[in-house]
Amino acid sequence: MSAPTREAVVELLRAVHDPELHRSIVDLGMVGEVEVRGGHVTVPIRLTIAGCPLKAEIQRRVTDALGGMPGVEIVQVTMDTMTDEERRALRSGLTGGDDRPSPFAAGSRTTVIGIASGKGGVGKSSITANLAVALARTGATVGLLDADVYGYSIPRMMGVTRPAVAVDDLMMPIEAHGVRMMSIGFLTEEDSPVIWRGPMLHKALTSFVTEVWWDDPDYLLVDLPPGTGDVALSLAQLLPTASFVIVTTPQLAAQRVARRAAAMAARVNLPVAGVIENMSYFVAPDTGTRYEVFSGGGGQLLASELGVPLLGRIPLEPAVAEAGDGGLPVVAADPASPAAVALLETARAVAAAVPRPVAAPS
Ligand SMILES: Nc1ncnc2c1ncn2[C@@H]1O[C@H](COP(=O)(O)OP(=O)(O)OP(=O)(O)O)[C@@H](O)[C@H]1O
Ligand SMILES: [Mg+2]
Repeated sequence: MSAPTREAVVELLRAVHDPELHRSIVDLGMVGEVEVRGGHVTVPIRLTIAGCPLKAEIQRRVTDALGGMPGVEIVQVTMDTMTDEERRALRSGLTGGDDRPSPFAAGSRTTVIGIASGKGGVGKSSITANLAVALARTGATVGLLDADVYGYSIPRMMGVTRPAVAVDDLMMPIEAHGVRMMSIGFLTEEDSPVIWRGPMLHKALTSFVTEVWWDDPDYLLVDLPPGTGDVALSLAQLLPTASFVIVTTPQLAAQRVARRAAAMAARVNLPVAGVIENMSYFVAPDTGTRYEVFSGGGGQLLASELGVPLLGRIPLEPAVAEAGDGGLPVVAADPASPAAVALLETARAVAAAVPRPVAAPS
């Protein structure tokens, strides 16, 4: 059998995508001089950073792509690291070279949704993680920005322990369960307290929006810290097309939460798209009987107070907490469980309720 040509090898490699950047490794400039000696093909790969965590995956993709090529007997992948100059070229290739102040400024194609609450511990982060995974499962591209700088929980809930990497000065989101995420937890040692204050907090959030390669996803979900305040203000500046979804629990005094949420939304001049009630009821696993543990109907009351729809009621279910602790959100871990079914339904309701970007996706 005749040996493959170098051109044919490069052509096949064109179909190999970087697992993180979702672009052809050839177009990204990651493939060096390919050598073909008889059936022996050597592919030098230039990684964006030394010790790239996805090294093995890239190697596997290259080997898989060339393994079945007629005439190829041995595929040898060598790994090297890009020079600073190559990284800069790659970075400006990704962002088009233009210095966009915020990729989510007016005119962006992304639907931005901030998940907020009037009170801590109601399940914002759990719901954000699950909605993100649920939306990704519908085929949408989804980004998740963890704006809870002091009390971040997205890395744990999504099961990510590796640090984020940067190409030149552009940070790469970390992808898990089909969702591309950025969190302060990817940049600090676990359990080291984050002690940034006011202006630094704004700077961190600005970096998370402008210096991360979000790649214009269909949705960007933002997990907000408990309460209102500075973070909402910063985000409103950076994400001017965002709308809020407010999470509450049945027993919370709806009027008080409503007043706070409405005040926050009005202060930053962003709309509230709807309410999600969490820990609403309990379904007995043996009998399937539904118990309304907390009477109160806080979700419906809050929605009525705000004049917005109630987008879903999520049952109290140990699997939600267990899945969160295990790093696999319940919609992925146990999609048939009552909480997962409710969350998947809620994701559809959220998608239908949030305002679409003015500039329709092309
Ligand atoms: N539907 C549910 N059923 C059972 N446990 C839940 C449910 N929703 C959330 N939890 C659990 O409740 C706790 C608080 O949830 P979570 O961290 O998502 O709340 P939060 O509003 O983001 O909190 P914070 O205000 O601290 O950011 C977690 O331990 C989580 O696993
Ligand atoms: Mg949280």
